[in-house]
Amino acid sequence: MDLTIAITGASGAVFCRAMLCALEVDARVSRVHFVPSENSLRVLAEELGVAGRNGLLEKLLGGPAKKCVQLSDSDIGASIASGSHPSNGMIVLPCSMGTLAAIANGLANSLIARAADVALKERRPLVLCVRETPFNRIHLRNMTLAAEAGATIFPCIPAFYNHPVDSDEMARQFVSRILAHIGLPQPGAYIWKPEE
Ligand SMILES: Cc1cc2nc3c(=O)[nH]c(=O)nc-3n(C[C@H](O)[C@H](O)[C@H](O)COP(=O)(O)O)c2cc1C
Repeated sequence: MDLTIAITGASGAVFCRAMLCALEVDARVSRVHFVPSENSLRVLAEELGVAGRNGLLEKLLGGPAKKCVQLSDSDIGASIASGSHPSNGMIVLPCSMGTLAAIANGLANSLIARAADVALKERRPLVLCVRETPFNRIHLRNMTLAAEAGATIFPCIPAFYNHPVDSDEMARQFVSRILAHIGLPQPGAYIWKPEE
């Protein structure tokens, strides 16, 4: 699979780190296009202590990236900006209300918004892991608009019934749910089996 992972300036950088780590070791995935928004860099520094855009992937993965490549959000000429690029889908994790608004209203004014626009027009999976609380009516309307255009609204709401011991485990399990949703079930994913 060829996937695009975008991170925006919403809280929840730990989810994106867990996502990149899972995809990097998943043999079914050949290429990951990673696009951090400018504002995600601030949140990455606040939440994970990861500073700057240089070597970002290596810092998040804890070693050299084998299949993840980083793209600039201002590079609207990147391969994933075109529907001719054979992508298998895109995940925005976490997705800020600002980026949700851009995608829901078809602004296509950054690589993230354009690649999402392409996913929708090509009828490819687009998963928006929105994060805000509480939601105002604009957020709710934009989620409806995006869902009606074909996106999956997959809010950053992790489960607790699997008794996660820390935020990394919580993030791993949440990421497993996202990946199962796009056809990449993960080893070690918690599955609720009350009758056993
Ligand atoms: C530490 C921090 C946490 C934030 N958390 C959120 C959030 O959870 N959801 C959200 O929509 N915006 C959040 N913001 C605000 C966004 O970063 C801001 O609206 C930004 O313009 C989004 O830009 P982007 O979508 O291009 O990344 C946060 C900002 C900071 C500094």
